[in-house]
Amino acid sequence: MNIPTLSLLTLLLLSTGCTNEAPAPTPDPAPTLQNAFADAFLIGAALNDRQFSGADAQGAALVAEQFNTITPENVLKWGLVHPEPDQYDFAAPDQYVAFGEEHGMFIIGHTLVWHHQTPDWVFEDAEGNPLTRDALLARMRDHIHTVVGRYQGRIDGWDVVNEALNDDGSMRETPWYTIIGPDYLEHAFRFAHEADPDAELYYNDYALENTPKRAGAVRLVQSLLDAGVPIAGLGTQNHVMMDWPTLGQFDTTLTTFADLGVQVMITEVDVNVLPHAWEHRGADLSVQVALQDSLDPYRAGLPDSVQQALAQRYADLFGVYYRHRDAVSRVTFWGVDDADSWLNGWPVPGRTSYPLLFDRAGQPKPAYDAVIAVPHP
Ligand code: GLA
Repeated sequence: MNIPTLSLLTLLLLSTGCTNEAPAPTPDPAPTLQNAFADAFLIGAALNDRQFSGADAQGAALVAEQFNTITPENVLKWGLVHPEPDQYDFAAPDQYVAFGEEHGMFIIGHTLVWHHQTPDWVFEDAEGNPLTRDALLARMRDHIHTVVGRYQGRIDGWDVVNEALNDDGSMRETPWYTIIGPDYLEHAFRFAHEADPDAELYYNDYALENTPKRAGAVRLVQSLLDAGVPIAGLGTQNHVMMDWPTLGQFDTTLTTFADLGVQVMITEVDVNVLPHAWEHRGADLSVQVALQDSLDPYRAGLPDSVQQALAQRYADLFGVYYRHRDAVSRVTFWGVDDADSWLNGWPVPGRTSYPLLFDRAGQPKPAYDAVIAVPHP
């Protein structure tokens, strides 16, 4: 067959639709975090106001593409949603919930009862004296009913109590604890359940990978279960470092929590690559100024070696999470891109931090590819 004949034949076949050639394959869409782990758990991020209001359109689009669950970074904390005794501010939380609904996401409420970002007046009467147990319980009930009730059937799960434990696993002596007593958690969960019987209710805390605090969390959750409190899940925050916790600590923690029979959630993941700041917290201010440079070594960018080490750390973390996928229902990052992370401001204000999967321009980092590539059996 000469070439002109072949061309004629091809044209004929194509024009009649009669060809043996397979249709050109549609390229697979680039994987996203939510797709990569669709068989395992929900994948989420904590959002700031600019993302859910749409002011940060690029951020909002990235969130919609990558995540199927969201947590509000701040706007549902007591001090923001209920700044004065008779004043609630629902403008931002309403936008947050509407954003989640628009994108069909699993919407988390964070957080109802905590000792931080809670105004002093919550614990005082009009004269500034400490409230009685009954008065504080009434105030807690009113707050929970108002906030949870407003989003009944729309917010799917609530962090009811945040960070009730000390590092040694004992109960933290917050005003909630000292005024109401150890049963304050039980009341908080019951009030939330009254306000929305269908919402999932969680306990959430950090550093639970350390043995004494983990044991405290187990005792706490078990005591709530024994009391018939409607607790659906336990959140371990996972604000972690490069060298803490060990993979063994993560593994033991997830196994131990799974044994409680509640959902286990990784609720606030970020990995801090900056030098530990604690040992430099001296009282000599001149030393502190001199130390700033050494505490903020990557202002001009992250060296490739650290970028790769971060990617490996994330791959290791997600390897553990994935192995425990039967127990883990959700993995949420504390922020979307590095520019927005709270770790630029804590514990040393003004540092340049790199804890998340997306860089300051919202572009995926090597850590993103490493997470997506975590082997799925
Ligand atoms: C805690 C809280 C969060 C947030 C982070 C860091 O873990 O639960 O709401 O404040 O710290 O910002």
